[in-house]
Amino acid sequence: MRVLVTEKLSEQGLELLRRDFQVDVRLELATGALVQEIGPYEALIVRSQTRVTSEVLDAAEHLRVVARAGIGLDNVDVDAATRRGVMVVNAPQSNVISAAEHSLALMLAQARSVPQADAALKAGKWERTAWEGVELAGKTLGIVGVGNVGRRVARFAGAIGMRVLGYDKYVPAEEVRRRGAEPVGSLEELLPQVDVLTCHTPLTPETRHMIDERALSRLRPGAIFINTSRGPVHSERAVFEALVQKRLGAAGLDVFEQEPSPVDNPIFNLDNVVCSGHVAGVTLEANREASLQVTAEILRVLRGERPRDLANPEVWPRPAHRR
Ligand SMILES: NC(=O)c1ccc[n+]([C@@H]2O[C@H](COP(=O)([O-])OP(=O)(O)OC[C@H]3O[C@@H](n4cnc5c(N)ncnc54)[C@H](O)[C@@H]3O)[C@@H](O)[C@H]2O)c1
Repeated sequence: MRVLVTEKLSEQGLELLRRDFQVDVRLELATGALVQEIGPYEALIVRSQTRVTSEVLDAAEHLRVVARAGIGLDNVDVDAATRRGVMVVNAPQSNVISAAEHSLALMLAQARSVPQADAALKAGKWERTAWEGVELAGKTLGIVGVGNVGRRVARFAGAIGMRVLGYDKYVPAEEVRRRGAEPVGSLEELLPQVDVLTCHTPLTPETRHMIDERALSRLRPGAIFINTSRGPVHSERAVFEALVQKRLGAAGLDVFEQEPSPVDNPIFNLDNVVCSGHVAGVTLEANREASLQVTAEILRVLRGERPRDLANPEVWPRPAHRR
């Protein structure tokens, strides 16, 4: 059995696979000639850079499973895999703590102007009064999407004394409450009540540009906006305008409408925004966890067991047609 790995994965997981299988780590294939090389492999492990297209799947004569070491499956054509009877698995829990902690880091950074004060000090300005911040304790946080990440943000924010409201279209109010947030019935209702708004939904046709000009105009003046979910969940132009006009007090953005974001993105010139380049889920622990979770899934598949996080359950128990 042969396993192909096209992106950097923590060694702990790979060692488990090497006990029973031939594991080829070919990082150059993440953006290269995967179609030509995939033929002999039964399992493929990717992160977010490798595009597993229908052409790749067509060429993958022996493939039984594609494993995405991480959460999103944006780079894997799951429908094409399903049509070909190839299982797609991921590690949906691997980086939720990391993403939640990063959301909190962006929130705290903006409440206390940490990046701005850091830049000023390093430019030789000792300006204690210029950086009067605000405390988050006692402020109201609005969470949109109280899922795996959102529920942890709710707990963290509660622990620093914030009042936490949550809006989730698909999670019942009682469950939102169990997850640590006071349930709110709609986004419309949530927006005017919050000092900080943070988004934790997947990107779907419904959530695309959910935070647009209209939504931003309903926030309290000077509110802080955080997004570590997916860039197009907010309209970048609308957030830019609201920041320029200081209707939004500040924003913390880990994700962008276009990724990698162009270096001349005008939002980078604003001093009331702190940005990171899609790193919320990137930690030592999350990488290790993703590697361990997907290798465990691959071991299950290659032993004929059902994987736990199967993104296309339609293919189970029907065997892959080329097996
Ligand atoms: N920046 C990063 O590195 C990073 C890391 C981890 C996760 N993420 C992203 O964070 C987001 C949340 O991840 P998760 O693991 O918590 O996902 P999840 O599926 O566990 O939770 C998402 C929640 O959003 C809710 N939701 C869906 N559509 C909605 C809508 N229209 N309105 C309101 N709520 C809606 C769902 O009911 C669910 O409870 C995802 O977009 C994920 O890709 C980013």
